[in-house]
Parts: sequence; C-alpha cells; structure tokens
Amino acid sequence: MANSSLSMFKEYFQYKGISFPELIYSAQGLREAENGFRVRDDDIFNVTYQKSGTVWMLEILSLIRSNGDPSWCRTVPNWERGPWYETILGLRMAQGNRSPRIISSHLPIQLFAKSFFRSKAKVVYTVRNPKDVLVSLYHFAQIFRPYKEPGRMDQFLERFLEGDVPFGSWFDHVKGWLGLRGCENFFCISYEELQEDLRGSIQRICQFLGRELEDQALDAVVANASFQAMKQNKMSNFSLSPSFLLDQSKKSFLRKGITGDWKNHLTAAQSEKFDRIYREQMQGLDLSFPWDEPRPQPSLPPADCSDPQLDSS
Ligand code: A3P
Repeated sequence: MANSSLSMFKEYFQYKGISFPELIYSAQGLREAENGFRVRDDDIFNVTYQKSGTVWMLEILSLIRSNGDPSWCRTVPNWERGPWYETILGLRMAQGNRSPRIISSHLPIQLFAKSFFRSKAKVVYTVRNPKDVLVSLYHFAQIFRPYKEPGRMDQFLERFLEGDVPFGSWFDHVKGWLGLRGCENFFCISYEELQEDLRGSIQRICQFLGRELEDQALDAVVANASFQAMKQNKMSNFSLSPSFLLDQSKKSFLRKGITGDWKNHLTAAQSEKFDRIYREQMQGLDLSFPWDEPRPQPSLPPADCSDPQLDSS
C-alpha cells in the first residue's frame, strides 16, 4: 500500500478524553467494552499501560493455563489466546473464547468493563519503568501503522509526559489501577521483577491465581516465556500480523527486551525533565517501584475495590 493511502489510517479519535487510533478501535466498541461486556468470575485480565510487557505476561498466563505445555502457545496466535477486548476484533474473540479466559487490555481503569467490579475476575497488572515504556513506544510507533509517526524523541517525550498518546497518560493509568492495591482480585508486578527473577515472579503469579504448578511445569513456563523462546515462536512474535498493521521489516515488536534501554536514548536533559514531571505526578503517593530511589516502605491505606466512576458520582 502506498504511504499516502496509509496516512489516512493514522487518525486518532477521542473517547472520554482518551485518544484511540481509528483503524482498530471504535467508539461503539469501547462503549460495548465498558458497558456491555460480560465479565465471568473466572476471567483473568492481563492489564498494562502499553509497552510494559503485555505480550510477555500473556505468554506467562497462557503457559500457566496449559500447565507449562507450550502446544497452545505454539499453535494459536497470542491475540487469540488473550485478545485485547477493547479492540473491534478482540471484543468478538473475547466474547467467543471459552473459560477460563485470558483477556488483555490497555484501558485506563475508568473505561474498564463495568461488570468487572461486580465480579470475582482477577487482574494481573504489569508496570514498567516509564522511561523504558517511552523508548519502547517510540520504536513501536514507527512500526505500528495505526499510530502516528513519533517524530523526534524530544517532541515525542513532550507528548508522552502530557499523556497526548493513545491510552492517555502513563501516570493516570498507573495511579488509577494501583488504586486497587490490596484488593484480593488484583495483583501488580513489574517488568523489572520479571527480568530480575522470572521463576519467582511466576510462582507469585501462580499463587495469586490459585494455580499450583509442579517444578517441571514451572521450569517449562520459564523456558517458554523467555525473550528468545518468544522471538522464535511465530505465534508470539507477531510475524503473522498483517503488514498493513505492523511493519516489522526494519524493527521487531520483540525489540530488545531489556531494562534501562532509556539510557541509550534519552539525553541527560531529557532524563532530568522526565524525573521532574515524574516526581510532580507521583508525589504524596504511597507507591514505590524498582526504578525509584530507595525509600522507607509506608503502610498501605485500606483498599477501595469498587468502580472508581461510581465513587465519584
Ligand atoms: P522493548 O521495546 O523495550 O524491547 P508490550 O507487550 O506491552 O507491547 O511490551 C513490549 C515490550 O516488552 C518490548 O520491549 C518487548 O521486547 C518486551 N518483551 C516482550 N516479551 C518479552 C520477554 N519475554 N522478555 C523480555 N521483554 C519482553
């Protein structure tokens, strides 16, 4: 397809103040995802701000569901195993999948399925150092056709910090979802923890899910969820994705898979600016992450597990 005809796809629309690319989302689909989607009690949601390790967690959850057996991951594309239910196609796939379903989502909590808040369904929320998210997104925006070209890093950095990107602000997303900390059906883990100790992280995820795995099964999950294993699996590396959506001729979706790549992309001034906004946005919150400066752990306030929108009405 010629570049000029592709550019018509690179349009965003706003849904309740958040940008979405037109090619794969629609306002009607988002309304349905929010108000019409029927969450089942045994659903497992794989929720992230984009570029935080979504497909990695999806692979881990798929392998746990299959008791470490990689057959499902090697025969079914990840977007069918754990569809992004806010997309036009993902919604239908999620509705049609049999239980227990794995459902992926990048939605901020205020747009999430209302019926989740009346269910026993579980959320695994993966967070990642936002500087690495920025860098990963910067590269992704160059290969994912529905996204606008990111331009220069300093321009993109501004837009990211302002939340002027699809799915809105990283800060709002993380603060919104982490409001569920302490709820028994919510589990948060970081990309950095997965990197640091994949086996131990998978054990914690299993514990949260109430799924005990034998040692051998656990080993198989670890082996098949590695960056290299996923890169070689065409069901997980997006090589089956149509090229009108993803152009992997120059860069891969599974790009580097490391922590701290921001150091190779941000100047000292850009990093300092990021840190300043980060401090402003996160100040006063009892949240600490592996990438933060060490500080004493405060005690957590009691959790409020209800729908945040109902609270404010
Ligand atoms: P990089 O672009 O930094 O390499 P998402 O799935 O949320 O879009 O996130 C994509 C990011 O997760 C990419 O980061 C990708 O390489 C990384 N990733 C995916 N699978 C991974 C794995 N098994 N191990 C480490 N990183 C992984």
